Amino acid sequence: MTIDGVDELEGLKRAGRAVAEARDQMLASVTAGISTQELDEIGREVLRRHGARSAPQLAYNFPGTTCISVNDELAHGIPSSRRLKDGDLINIDVSAELDGYWADSGASAPVGVVAPRLQQLLDATRRAQAEAMDEARAGRPLSGIGKVVERRAKRHGFFVIKNLCGHGVGRHIHEDPQVSSVYDPRDRTQLWEGLVITIEPFLTTRATRAVDSGDGWTLRTPDGSLGAQFEHTLVITKGAPIIVT
Ligand code: CO
Ligand code: CO
Repeated sequence: MTIDGVDELEGLKRAGRAVAEARDQMLASVTAGISTQELDEIGREVLRRHGARSAPQLAYNFPGTTCISVNDELAHGIPSSRRLKDGDLINIDVSAELDGYWADSGASAPVGVVAPRLQQLLDATRRAQAEAMDEARAGRPLSGIGKVVERRAKRHGFFVIKNLCGHGVGRHIHEDPQVSSVYDPRDRTQLWEGLVITIEPFLTTRATRAVDSGDGWTLRTPDGSLGAQFEHTLVITKGAPIIVT
C-alpha cells in the first residue's frame, strides 16, 4: 500500500507494534528445551491481546500462528513438538492483521552459544538488513536494496537466497512490488514516498536457493547449509524510512 495521511500511518503502526511485541517476546523465550509449539503459543497470546490475527493463518491457512524455522530450514516452518537444542539457529517470523492493516517482521537468533561462523552469519545478516533499510528512500531505485545486501554478504563470504524476497505490505500480507535481495539491473522501479514494503534478506553459509521440504510449507536450503534472516515492515520517505515493526 501507499500511506495516505496520518490515520493510515497510525493504523499500520498499531499492526506493527503487535507484530514487534510478539516477535520480541518469542525471541526472549528462546532457550534450549523449549518447543517451537510453545514459542508459537507465546506469540499467539501477544497477538490476541492486541486484537490482531495471524497473517499466515488468515491469508494461507497456515497450521500455526507464526512461522518458526530451525537450522537448515529457512522459512515457513510449522510450530511443532520439536525442542530447541544448544547451538541451534532459529528463525521466528511474525506477521499479522489488525483493523485491516498488515505488518510483517522476522528475526534469527542463536539457541545458547552457536559456532563462531554462525554468529558471524547472524551479525552480517542483521547488518545487511539495516544497510538495505538505510538505502531505501523515495526517488532511489528499488534494485539498490539487493545491491547493498549482496555487497554485505560478499564481504563476509556469505551467500544470498535469490528466490525469497521482500514485498509490498499494508493492506494484505503480500503486495507488489517484489523486493529482491539480490541486484536485478533490469528492475527500473523507483521507490516512492508512502510506499510500504518489507526488507528481509536471507544470508546463508552456502545456498543461493530455498527449496520445498516436502511438508507443504517449510522452505529449506538444498544442501544443509544454514541461513539467517531479519525482516522489518517500513514506510518509504524522502529520508530514513519509518520502521513500524
Ligand atoms: Co515478509
Ligand atoms: Co515475514
